[in-house]
Amino acid sequence: MIQQLSATKKSFHEALQQCTDFNSLKKLSLAYLGRKGIINNFLYQMVNKTDEEKKRVGKEINELKMQIEVEIKHSEQTILNQSEDTWIDVTFPGRKRKKGSVHLTTTALEEINHIFERLGFTRVRYREVEWEYFAFEALNMPKNHPARDDFETFFIEGDEDKTYGKIVLTPHTSSGQVREMMRVKKPPIKMINIAKCYRRNWDITHTPMFHQFEGLCIDKNINLTHLKGTIEYFVREFFDDRRKVRFRPFHFQFTEPSFELDISCDICDGSGMKKDALCRVCKSGWLELGGAGMVHPNVLKAGGIDPTIYTGWAFGFGVERNFMMKQGLKLDDVRILYNGDIRFLQQF
Ligand code: FA5
Repeated sequence: MIQQLSATKKSFHEALQQCTDFNSLKKLSLAYLGRKGIINNFLYQMVNKTDEEKKRVGKEINELKMQIEVEIKHSEQTILNQSEDTWIDVTFPGRKRKKGSVHLTTTALEEINHIFERLGFTRVRYREVEWEYFAFEALNMPKNHPARDDFETFFIEGDEDKTYGKIVLTPHTSSGQVREMMRVKKPPIKMINIAKCYRRNWDITHTPMFHQFEGLCIDKNINLTHLKGTIEYFVREFFDDRRKVRFRPFHFQFTEPSFELDISCDICDGSGMKKDALCRVCKSGWLELGGAGMVHPNVLKAGGIDPTIYTGWAFGFGVERNFMMKQGLKLDDVRILYNGDIRFLQQF
């Protein structure tokens, strides 16, 4: 029987060489492994053998069976690969690869950066996690000052520093003002600080994480007209000519005088009404873009700059808020930028 087995092995290999398609391979498989095939025939012959022979020869039969199975599988794969290589259906639609894209906030941020670059501002980015001192004290808001409440700040647990206080998630990019004065030391300073900010807010115009861009300009004889000209240039470049803006008096501890900038709302085209109801975004026809003013002398002093020689102005606007007011975008809930809805993001 052992000799028969080795003859079978040889004949199988010869037959396998002849198989060049799935049909012939299937026939070969049936001939050797099928119910009435050669291998089963050997097994039937074992019935009358002694136990010792059954053990010895049975093992040989099983090994041959396994070898045949493996080789047939291997040949199947070879035939499959060859057919893929040689068959090309040129009418078959190609596979579309999914493309990623830059997030809208990044696009807006880059556009803003380029606008101020053209005006000679230096782009910086100050800390996301900051000392209370730079976010408040250095900006003329001493400990326990009520103005701090406006910034609805997140505090980080940890030890308090004697000079710098607690650690916070930066609530506004104004915390970079004094850091920039300390870095440059001697004016002129023309900074544009674009960075992440965090506050405890969540509604259609507020998110807990957002970005601000902060302009700071300090030199001799700097005045409000330079600030107004800079902001008007930005508005003209970033929005459409048809949009109206207004400067509204306001109060910030770190600028004097201070004001806020509003833009005519894109959602209701400045009317304040949408479908016979108040516009859900602006409620008045105007939406606030940010705050600005002349840098307070105490802030200049905190940055080591003599307010009797130098003056300066600053502004701080929200990137997402400005982006949602882009002409014709009609983005009526800023939270959609961050809720991970791919259907929305894929449109851009
Ligand atoms: C400030 O943050 C001041 N630091 C701005 C400033 C800078 C004034 C320099 C004077 C001189 P305010 O809290 O108003 O101000 O925020 C400014 C802008 O940031 C808002 O008008 C809005 O556009 C944006 N903003 C504020 N909070 C959020 C928020 N939670 N989500 C999205 N945008 C926000």
